[in-house]
Amino acid sequence: MNKNNISIIILAAGKGSRMKSQTAKVLHKISGKPMLYHIIKASKEISDDITVVIAHQKEEVQKQIEAFFENINFCIQDADNFPGTGGAMKNVTPKNEKVLVLNGDMPLITADSLRGFLDSDADIIMSIFDLKNPNGYGRVIIKENQVQKIVEQKDATENELKVTTVNAGIYAFSKKVIEKYIPLLSDNNAQKEYYLTDVISMAKKDGLNISPLLVDEGYFKGVNSKKDLSDSEIIMQNRIKTSLMDAGVTMQLPQTIYIEEGVTFEGESIIENGCRITGNTLITNSHIKSGTVIEDSIIKNSDIGPLAHVRPASHIEDTHIGNFVEVKKSSLKGVKAGHLSYIGDAQIDEGTNIGAGVITCNYDGIKKYKTIIGKNVFVGSDSQLVAPLQIEDDVMIAAGTTLTSGAVQKGSLAISRAKLRNIKGFYYKFFGGK
Ligand code: UD1
Ligand code: MG
Repeated sequence: MNKNNISIIILAAGKGSRMKSQTAKVLHKISGKPMLYHIIKASKEISDDITVVIAHQKEEVQKQIEAFFENINFCIQDADNFPGTGGAMKNVTPKNEKVLVLNGDMPLITADSLRGFLDSDADIIMSIFDLKNPNGYGRVIIKENQVQKIVEQKDATENELKVTTVNAGIYAFSKKVIEKYIPLLSDNNAQKEYYLTDVISMAKKDGLNISPLLVDEGYFKGVNSKKDLSDSEIIMQNRIKTSLMDAGVTMQLPQTIYIEEGVTFEGESIIENGCRITGNTLITNSHIKSGTVIEDSIIKNSDIGPLAHVRPASHIEDTHIGNFVEVKKSSLKGVKAGHLSYIGDAQIDEGTNIGAGVITCNYDGIKKYKTIIGKNVFVGSDSQLVAPLQIEDDVMIAAGTTLTSGAVQKGSLAISRAKLRNIKGFYYKFFGGK
């Protein structure tokens, strides 16, 4: 497809008051990324000329989007004087003859689902779908197979409210339609807003060719409330997990697993029920057991969990991580850490065993420090490794040791224990008996 003959305008300036949130609506996340991110990602596959209209929290919206994408145009809506989706179009000057206008609250769209808007030469293509419960959407009034107008819910008569054909909120306009009708919009309606949807009735009166395109709610659902957000999240999660399973990832009870956009898998892995995998995590040929959380990390040829927590910037390879082990910003290669440990800001080498209850004390209340552990080290259970610390190869740390020395040389035993006292008969003296 030639990306250069269509302009895309994304309306993202609204407050989203129905979300009842301090966060701008388009920045609410679906599968770990702002709603607007998903829309721009799909748009980029179709066009090189993308404009996002902003106003409410405009600096924050622009900042978050620029962290992901380059070459996006931002256009500021004069929302005080021209509120509404039509007001959002007032300052827009599209480059190309064909213009696709998308609402910024439709995170489920894909480039494929937009193809139908690109193939026709009608002056206006508008998207419609039929819903059992059309609540919240603009109703599409059709007579004799011709779209007459769109009526917003708040302006609809009782009969119009019964209409179940709704406006999905995506339109393809010719540039001349935008140039002619946007300046003619008025705010003479229940919400005192400039409705983009009024373009339809004006164009119809002038005899323009309006072509309705039936679309699938699974791709065109609008998000106006927290309930809509969670409904859309379920659809997006199904999509992400289906494509991972198609690529060979085994998932036990996939409906209990959450995997963010941006997580990638290589080879063949198994994910058990109740896992949460986020950020830019990469998992290769690994087994992730029940209830494990993995954030922004690399896992290769390893088994993790059940109930383990791998926090950002960890690199785990050829390693076994067992239950109740937390790893943060650490690199482990060929390591066994089977039970109840905290491993933070550490680097641990091949053949090393981390006993149950071992803690890297990486934080002194002000700064974080590193723990470096060499090859074939045996760290006995319940040891505290007070960083900064370097343990060379072939070292044994006795169980219960608090290691504060900064360095342990190759081949040594490190042991710190109070002398054991064994007081005969004390129990019976204290509790009575025998
Ligand atoms: C809109 C349509 C409705 C359609 C529905 C589909 C209008 C008037 N109504 O209603 O017919 O069924 O989408 O989801 O267009 N926005 C701005 N500036 C504003 C107001 C909104 O940029 O002043 C942006 C919002 O950020 C949002 C999008 O436009 O991304 C749609 O606004 P929203 O308030 O969600 O419109 P709906 O009531 O859903
Ligand atoms: Mg909406």
